[in-house]
Amino acid sequence: MAYTLDKDKALRMRAESAFPAGIYGHMSTKVLPDNYPQFIAQAEGGRLWGVDGYEYIDFLCAYGPNILGYKHPKVEAAVRRQMEQGDCTTGPSPVMVELAEKMIEKGEHADWSLFCKNGSDATTICLMIARAQTGRNTILMAEGTYHGVDPWCSWSKVGITEGARANIITFTYNDVTSLEQAVADAGDDLAGIILTPNMHEVLVPQQIVKQEFAQKARQLCDDKGAALILDDVRCSYRFSLGCTWQTIGVLPDLCAMGKTLGNGYALSAVTGNNKFRSGAAESFTTGSYWFSSVAFAASLATIEAIEEEEAIPRMESAGRQLREGLADLAHGYGFALEQSGPVQMPLFLFKDDPEFAKGISFCNEAVKNGVYLHPVHNMFVCAAHDTDIVEALDRIEGAFKALKREFGDG
Ligand SMILES: Cc1ncc(COP(=O)(O)O)c(C=O)c1O
Repeated sequence: MAYTLDKDKALRMRAESAFPAGIYGHMSTKVLPDNYPQFIAQAEGGRLWGVDGYEYIDFLCAYGPNILGYKHPKVEAAVRRQMEQGDCTTGPSPVMVELAEKMIEKGEHADWSLFCKNGSDATTICLMIARAQTGRNTILMAEGTYHGVDPWCSWSKVGITEGARANIITFTYNDVTSLEQAVADAGDDLAGIILTPNMHEVLVPQQIVKQEFAQKARQLCDDKGAALILDDVRCSYRFSLGCTWQTIGVLPDLCAMGKTLGNGYALSAVTGNNKFRSGAAESFTTGSYWFSSVAFAASLATIEAIEEEEAIPRMESAGRQLREGLADLAHGYGFALEQSGPVQMPLFLFKDDPEFAKGISFCNEAVKNGVYLHPVHNMFVCAAHDTDIVEALDRIEGAFKALKREFGDG
């Protein structure tokens, strides 16, 4: 039967008029090839169903938030219980304190916690706290890193003043000399250095942080009395329930967390140490929905389930199985892949594919065969995928066959 996305297309047309230019932001499938559904009707575990009824094994996981599996029973039960008691009320529920205490217990760097909704809230608050605590302005960030949509870091310049980025100096990720130069350029105005645990940007292979680079950043911040800020938004909980650099023994002063905290229920957080407590206390941060109890209850249940169900090693082993299976299939069909990043946040690019033609064509076939991959963005493995990989690879083989027909032997 032909693969057709009629209902999806009809909705896309309505969206073109209902929104300024259709579905926007990272969820827009306009940048993806034709076979990708824009609209999702249902999700469970590691799978999605589009509005036209097709099933997809989903390796985007809502671009990160789905860590345990969609509709995880324990998280959904906690959400239902909390909903019956109240969500957005005049004052927080006790679960807010319980969650903050849990995050302090898990984070070796953490003496306190603050909650917000999106990763951008959390990264921007980290900068505010670093500046409030140090009384300085300059923040160093790695060239090309995504830290969110706020004016100081947005990829876009539309509607943003130059002044919004006036106190930002960039350096090259994993390059100690470049970082040292940026610190020298900041002089005595260095408020903080913000880094992601790995360099996981689109279109280029991911770089896993070099331990000596992370240690150098820590040492430079200590020398200068500046904040080491870890933007853990994309990685949160896929490597550690504390912060990702806990696994390499480098503790930040401030950590921005997000995406996975509530297994899809909207929540982000800043955790920090006592050196930055007064700066955090003085900084004004709030939002109408930042105290919603359902997300806190979801997050507590998510942490419990990650521990009880050994979600982190399961994601790792599913990710490894996917990586090895992809490599074997590619080899068998005469293609070479460059696989990069940690296995639970994989990115694969085809070698000798400067314009991504193979990657795009391959993913377009894979999605038609029922596997939702991304040609240029890192993907995400969730714990529920551990029973999906064999089937996913089976479906993916069809995409290699089609690629071979189109491109011959790689
Ligand atoms: C590293 C990093 N920081 C910050 C953000 C912003 O998070 P949000 O989209 O929740 O605002 C993202 C989102 O992808 C991210 O990957």
